[in-house]
Amino acid sequence: MKIAIYPGSFDPITKGHLDVLETGAEIFDKVIIAVARNSEKHGFLTIEERVDLIRQSCAHLKNVEVDSFNGLTIDYAQQKGATILLRGLRAVSDFEYEMQLSQNNSALNHNIKTVFLITKPKYNFISSSSVREILLNGGDITKFVPEEVKIYLEKKYKC
Ligand code: COA
Repeated sequence: MKIAIYPGSFDPITKGHLDVLETGAEIFDKVIIAVARNSEKHGFLTIEERVDLIRQSCAHLKNVEVDSFNGLTIDYAQQKGATILLRGLRAVSDFEYEMQLSQNNSALNHNIKTVFLITKPKYNFISSSSVREILLNGGDITKFVPEEVKIYLEKKYKC
């Protein structure tokens, strides 16, 4: 059974992340999408909110599990019996960061491989920080996030 971990901060999950997740779920037997608890980034939503929004957004994907983790991604993957780390690439600008991350992980445990999926062009411009900025300035986030996320965020921030 090929298990892949899709790690990230998902603050919040976007349509671009969901696109990567859906393709990953077609390729691998099981995908665990996991929110990193100790990401260096300052949190906008709590970890519990992010996990819950991911759960709602991927309810249609039967071989996807949603979780969060502390510590190194590679240790979490090993603990879950996963041999693949799944990451999305939107543009060349993602490449350098992703290459470094994947090489760090490979140096830590060469048995766990990173697989990159190219995001659909229509989602290339999306990032979680642009969603946050648009939302907090009263803009429309329909094109950026799954419906469930839009409803939650607009209610929370009273748009
Ligand atoms: N669609 C939309 N947005 C995407 C995307 C896609 N397909 N792919 C990446 N992004 C965006 C995200 O929205 C996010 O945007 P933001 O910076 O505006 O918030 C950005 O790209 C990167 O986010 P994400 O994919 O969630 O990754 P990350 O850089 O926040 O998280 C971890 C990286 C959590 C996987 C990494 O830090 C990690 O593994 N941490 C645990 C500790 C560890 O093991 N470190 C490695 C050893 S050095």
